[in-house]
Amino acid sequence: MAPAAQELKTTRQGSVEPFTLLEGPGTWYVKDFKGPGDWVTQLTPEHVAELEAAVQGVLRAGLDIEKAPRSITKDHFPLPTLGPLLEALRDEVRDGRGFAVIRGFPVDRLSRRETVIGFWGIGLYWGKALSNNKKGHLIGHIKDIGHDPASPLTRLYATHEAQPYHNDAADLVSLLCLKNARSGGLSSWSSSVSVHNEILKRRPDLARVLAGDWYFDRKGEVPPGKKGYFVIPVFNYHKGYLSVNFSDNYYHLAQRHAEVPRLTPAQLEAIDLFNELARSDELRLDHLLEPGEIQLLSNHTQLHTRSAFEDVGDFDERRHLLRLWRAPPGDRPLPDAYLEPYGGSVEVGNRGGIIVDGTVEHVSLEAE
Ligand SMILES: [Fe+2]
Repeated sequence: MAPAAQELKTTRQGSVEPFTLLEGPGTWYVKDFKGPGDWVTQLTPEHVAELEAAVQGVLRAGLDIEKAPRSITKDHFPLPTLGPLLEALRDEVRDGRGFAVIRGFPVDRLSRRETVIGFWGIGLYWGKALSNNKKGHLIGHIKDIGHDPASPLTRLYATHEAQPYHNDAADLVSLLCLKNARSGGLSSWSSSVSVHNEILKRRPDLARVLAGDWYFDRKGEVPPGKKGYFVIPVFNYHKGYLSVNFSDNYYHLAQRHAEVPRLTPAQLEAIDLFNELARSDELRLDHLLEPGEIQLLSNHTQLHTRSAFEDVGDFDERRHLLRLWRAPPGDRPLPDAYLEPYGGSVEVGNRGGIIVDGTVEHVSLEAE
């Protein structure tokens, strides 16, 4: 018989015991915040001047952001006052609240090339860059480029469809908004640790189901020698940390492989409860990213989603965000189950991202 909620033990990240209630800053509820002032950091004119000067330095040095982005290092991108702020925000996201928004990236003053270099340079203060897809994009483009949302190989970021609650295949994910849609495209995020706690209180039996094996589709982005799917729990308890990995459409999609076990009634119930909690008013924080705003999230403690949107017709006027996946130093240990989605490494600072046969790492200035 599972203990009642009031009898459940409480632990914190760093000394988590399986199936206990987590407390600490990553376990937040909407009521904990007064408003965006609690999570938005406004860049000062001095920060912006540093950023623009660093971008111009990269251009003057003749460094190639498209073909050789890794040749642009922190040494080429000095940010005397902005750099420490970026690192402090990263630490808050990695070890604390789990999310942050930065306002004031000068998207209206910079060319596309300058913008891409600027976002790359900011990412240098957060950790190692990782490939976002099988094409090797080290900066992803979130834009409707007409991919068929019904195809099992389509990643929804290349469509205008809603994306269900999920996390990405890297420690940190960041988005820079370049342009908004005519309507829709609302970002929301929730604490996956709070979802864990609520499930433990309501349905401890389903918490145990979520800590079991879940089959996860690769959407055709298959590394050499791997299958088109892999197994990873939703609730991962490892060396004193709870890391949550969830994406319901990838579980359903894995059912297309005949050898993958069918989702059980308990698993389907667990998915429903997980989604219901993640999108509940108590746990869901809505934030419509405006042009020039940057969102930074930990994928281990936060879930994200975006609503469907409608663009204006012209390609250049469509909703467009840039995405970074980064492996920061000093992140938590992860269990071997993460070797599958994390490119064969769980080494802190050197894990995550998608590499398949033929992947060539590069940066594109436009969605492709
Ligand atoms: Fe995502």
